[in-house]
Amino acid sequence: MNKLGSKVAILAARAAVAALAATMLCGPANLNAQSGPRQIAIPLPPMGWSSWNSFSNTVDSRAVMDQAKAMISTGMHKAGYQYINIDEGWWLGERDEQGNIVVDPKAWPALAPGEHAGDMSNIVRFIHGLGLKAGIYTDAGKNGCGTYSPDLGPGYPNQGSEGHYEQDFLQFARWGFDYVKVDWCGGNKENLDPAVQYAEIARAILRAEANTGHHLYFSICNWGRNSPWTWAPNIGGVPADIWRVSGDIVAPIVAGSRNAGRKASFQKMLRNFDQGIHPEAEHTGFYNDPDMMVVGMPGLTDAGNRVHMSLWAMSGAPLIVGADLTKLSDATRATLTNPAVLAVDQDVLGLQAVKAGEQGTGLEVWSKRLAASGERAVLLLNRTASAAPISVHWSDFGLSGSSADVKDLWAGKDLGTVNDSYSATIPASDAVMLLVHGSEGKMTRYRPSGSGTSAAGHALEKNHPLTFSRVSSRFPIAAIEIVYTNSGPSTAFAELRVNGQDATRIAFPPTGSAAGAVWIQAVLDRAGAQNELSFSAICEPGPAITSISLE
Ligand code: GLA
Repeated sequence: MNKLGSKVAILAARAAVAALAATMLCGPANLNAQSGPRQIAIPLPPMGWSSWNSFSNTVDSRAVMDQAKAMISTGMHKAGYQYINIDEGWWLGERDEQGNIVVDPKAWPALAPGEHAGDMSNIVRFIHGLGLKAGIYTDAGKNGCGTYSPDLGPGYPNQGSEGHYEQDFLQFARWGFDYVKVDWCGGNKENLDPAVQYAEIARAILRAEANTGHHLYFSICNWGRNSPWTWAPNIGGVPADIWRVSGDIVAPIVAGSRNAGRKASFQKMLRNFDQGIHPEAEHTGFYNDPDMMVVGMPGLTDAGNRVHMSLWAMSGAPLIVGADLTKLSDATRATLTNPAVLAVDQDVLGLQAVKAGEQGTGLEVWSKRLAASGERAVLLLNRTASAAPISVHWSDFGLSGSSADVKDLWAGKDLGTVNDSYSATIPASDAVMLLVHGSEGKMTRYRPSGSGTSAAGHALEKNHPLTFSRVSSRFPIAAIEIVYTNSGPSTAFAELRVNGQDATRIAFPPTGSAAGAVWIQAVLDRAGAQNELSFSAICEPGPAITSISLE
C-alpha cells in the first residue's frame, strides 16, 4: 500500500480534526511567528451512510440498528466510514406544549434497560456503542420536504425547525447527535434567503455546542440555490461544513415498496459531479457536496460504481453512502473500501480536483494535488459511448522533470517509472485513476505589499487587509500555500478576495508557536503578474500571515 493509503494516517487526521472541532471562534492569540511551514491539520470530508436513498420515510430504529451493525461487519467502519445519518421520516412534525419535538415511540422504542420509548437518545447510544457517530435531519423552513413532496406515505405538516432553531439544535446536541443535515424545502417555498437562514442555524448550532460541550457537524442541503459556495464556507462562524451544490442523484429506491423499480442514472451522477466543482471554495475544512453516493444502488454497473467513487474521491466530496449496507455485493464493498481511493478523498490538503485537460468532447483529465510533495491523483475520464485513448503530460498539473512513478489505483498495480506522459485507452463510460509521483514544480513565494496594510507576521486586522500584489501563476486555478502563525488555542478565520471576486473564508487552525501552512486554490483571472490577493480578519486577532507561495 502506498503511504496515502495508510489507514493510520486517516485515523490520525481524524483525531486532529476532532481536537480542531472543539476549538471556538475568535479566541485570543499570542504572536510568535517563526519560519518553517508544516501542513496544519484541517477537518476532512465526512464519511458515513444516510437512510434516505434506501429507506425514504420508512426509516425507524430497526433499520438504523441493522445499518449500523452492517457498517461494522462489512469492514466499512475499519475503512474510515463513521456516520450513521437518519434523514427525513424520523419525525412527523408533532411538538408538545413547550415546543419540544415529539417522536413516535413505536418507531423509536427503548433499546436498553432504563430507556424510554420516544427518546432519540436511545438510538444515538446504540450507534455510539458500536463506536460510530450519529446524524439527524431537519428543514430550515416551517414545513419540510415530507410536507411538500412526500415520497412514501402521507405528507405531514410542521416537519421543519423554523421558529425553533435554538430549541431544536440544542435538542439534537442533548440527544447526543454528532451531525445535522438541514434541508431547504420549507425555506424554498417560503422564499427565505438561504445565506441568512443557514447563518442563523449555524449560530444556533454553535450555541448548542457551547451549552452542551457536544460538537454537531453542519451539513447544508439547499441544492446549490443562491450559489452556496460563495457564502457557505464558515457560515455563522462554524469551523467546518459542507453544502449541497445540486439536486438529488436519485429519488429513494425502497425494497418491497411501490418505488422499488426506480434506477439511479450514471448521467445524473456525472452531472452532480460537474455541478460540484468549485475549487476556490473547497479548502481548510469546507467542502462542496455533490450528494449522497448511489454506489451499489440499482442502475449503476460495477464499472459505473468505480467511476462514481473515483469522481467523489477526486472531488474531495463527503462520502455518504445511500445503498442498503446489509445487501452490498462483494464488488460494491470492495469499491467503497478501496484504501488508496479513500486516501485520495481524505487527503490532508483538503483540495478539490481541477480539470487539467480535455482531448475532445467527453475525454477529460482531472488532477488533484495531494499532500506529499510531487504527488497528484489523476483521473482519465471517458464520458463518451466508445473506447478512446486519453493521454496526460506531467507538466499539465505542475510537476517538473521528465519521470514520475505511476500506480493504477483500481487495478492496485504499479505501472513503473514513466517519462513525460502517460496514455491509455479508456473504455466507454469508464475511467482510470492514477497516483502519479514526480518532482514538484517550482513555487514562487510572495511577501505582502502596499501601504496601510496589516504587517506581515503580525495578527491580521479587520479593517487593514494584507495585500499581495503582482501575483502570477502558471495555472488559471492556482494552488496556494499560505504560511501563517496562530499560536492561540482557537481557529482563526480570514476572508480572501482575489481581484475583487467573491470573498472566500479560510480557516487558520492553531499552529503553536512555530509557523504552519494551509492550502487553498484560487481563480487568478488576470493574465501575467496582474493579480491582487487581499486577506482581512473576520474577528481579531486574525492569523499572522507571513507569505504565500503559488505554483
Ligand atoms: C431533499 C434532499 C434529499 C433528502 C430529501 C428528504 O430532496 O435533497 O437529500 O434529504 O430531501 O425528503
